Amino acid sequence: MSIELQWDIPVPEGMGALEGLLGRVAEACFRAEGVENAGFCIRIVDDEQIRALNLDHRGIDSPTDVLSFPTVAYPHGKTARDCPKRVGREYDPSMGCANLGDCVINLARARAQAAEYGHSLTRELSYLTAHSAFHLMGYDHMNEEERGMMRNMEERALNAVGITREGEVPSHEQLFELACEAMHNSYSPYSHFKVGACILTTDGRTFQGCNFENASYGASICAERCAAACAIAAGARQFAAIAIASSDAPAWPCGICRQVLREFSDLSLPVIVGQCGKDFSVMTLGELLPNSFGPENLKVKVEKP
Ligand code: THU
Repeated sequence: MSIELQWDIPVPEGMGALEGLLGRVAEACFRAEGVENAGFCIRIVDDEQIRALNLDHRGIDSPTDVLSFPTVAYPHGKTARDCPKRVGREYDPSMGCANLGDCVINLARARAQAAEYGHSLTRELSYLTAHSAFHLMGYDHMNEEERGMMRNMEERALNAVGITREGEVPSHEQLFELACEAMHNSYSPYSHFKVGACILTTDGRTFQGCNFENASYGASICAERCAAACAIAAGARQFAAIAIASSDAPAWPCGICRQVLREFSDLSLPVIVGQCGKDFSVMTLGELLPNSFGPENLKVKVEKP
């Protein structure tokens, strides 16, 4: 896990999946920066606690939304990608990676900002986590140019996990529901194994698919590739998540589908798998397809608008 989440206030209801989401946000930030084997700690606090920290560390006696405390001292104008040795020196055996520092988030302020912008609390927490992650990697916003660069990086990372500026990101639960819905259209008279899938693309669209079989068995198509085909045909090129629901035991994607997903996804792609009507599990594509081969292994520039 690339983050350690610590609650310095009572955990509100419905926040159970937060660590997984913020971990994926952090990983997307590291990938955007090209940093490997890194992590940081996220502390969730209230107005009063962050006010005290703001006073202690910055001499400002007022609450704020997020504070970042980097472990690495980056030379002027450099960020984590320029300093792999400095980052590597922060290796923390208990985290199993380099600890880039602490991100302290004020939950009360995050709630107020989410209401102000008209989006969800989890989206606001994701944004604050990404903002802090880039501070922990040496970014700042002292002038317009720096601000623009940092904002681009944040946006790239958030897009990779399906959080776009417009609209809400469907939750894993919602994606799984859409996969179950698609499963009912499965054409599987030979195996009687019904599978449905739903792909979330980074521009926030969802595409459903189901398996459809053929009397010539080898011509059958899995639900995942059916959903992928719909997404590609609609112009999407980057996947942010996939949910797969089956009528029987949970169906982790077959090898061919893993490779097809690899073409259009980061390795952090959450793969949400379960039996319809039951709980689901989540693994990343990187876990399901280690040491994989992808477009970047070929000396060809692949345009993905
Ligand atoms: N199947 C899928 O749709 N997705 C998977 O990940 C595994 C298998 C389908 C293909 C075939 O129609 C049936 O399940 C039995 O293999």
